[in-house]
Amino acid sequence: MGHDHPVIELRGVTKRFGRQLVLDEIDLAVERGKSTVIIGRSGTGKSVLLKHIVGLLKPNRGEVWFEGQRIDTLSERALVPIRRQITFVFQLNALFDSMTVLENVAFPMMENSDVRLDREEIASLARRCLELVGLAKFGGKRPAELSGGERKRVALARAIALEPPPKVILYDEPTAGLDPQRSDAITKLIRELQEKVHVTGVVVTHDMKLAAEAGDRVLMLYHGRFVADGSPEEVRQIKEPHVRRFVEGTAEPEDVVTYTT
Ligand SMILES: Nc1ncnc2c1ncn2[C@@H]1O[C@H](COP(=O)(O)OP(=O)(O)OP(=O)(O)O)[C@@H](O)[C@H]1O
Ligand SMILES: [Mg+2]
Repeated sequence: MGHDHPVIELRGVTKRFGRQLVLDEIDLAVERGKSTVIIGRSGTGKSVLLKHIVGLLKPNRGEVWFEGQRIDTLSERALVPIRRQITFVFQLNALFDSMTVLENVAFPMMENSDVRLDREEIASLARRCLELVGLAKFGGKRPAELSGGERKRVALARAIALEPPPKVILYDEPTAGLDPQRSDAITKLIRELQEKVHVTGVVVTHDMKLAAEAGDRVLMLYHGRFVADGSPEEVRQIKEPHVRRFVEGTAEPEDVVTYTT
């Protein structure tokens, strides 16, 4: 069994919600062991795209492939072994409020029968992952007692606290709501997971610093299509106006509302 096929592949994926066209014949091949970053303004379909990769949404047209297997036609049951290989760090993370932070991080390992660790090993790995996201002292707290950014980091710790590590991690806005220094720490963590553990990452973000530092390849989604695709450096040089404005953080002219009395 060769590994020359892309880990994830979208072929001509079109997604509509009613009359709204969100993804317009998207082609994307995600390379093994690399970090692919998808940028784009709010509401362009970045989260929708990620959800196709784990079968949470089905395309209206086109195909989704994972490890050489077509998955958009699979039943929920047949998707289970696929989803086991992919960790999805959601944009809005659900933590279990009845459990402590440490229990939240340990939960997927306790549940997954593939994990061959005893309770003590699981707790110790969970603690290490909490340390990595700067929450070593918070293991005994409950999610309700944490700030928004702290919850986000608990969710990240939970995503990486797997043994063996997941093959693929999908990160939806991993640095949103974090201060610049925490964002930088998370950016470095994403980079490290890729370099040391060879996790294939797909990162959705508005954060250009994250894109530049953690991305091997950056694509920009605009009106259902990719309008930029290249290394972070190449994307920074692109002259296309929508890409320029996104990179510089300048409003699109149609979004500028003039206040008149
Ligand atoms: N389940 C759904 N049903 C109907 N419309 C949806 C659904 N999910 C997403 N949409 C619409 O699809 C568009 C893209 O949504 P998506 O969540 O992918 O945006 P996004 O690029 O992730 O934005 P943000 O940066 O704000 O998270 C939005 O206009 C949204 O309203
Ligand atoms: Mg989103």
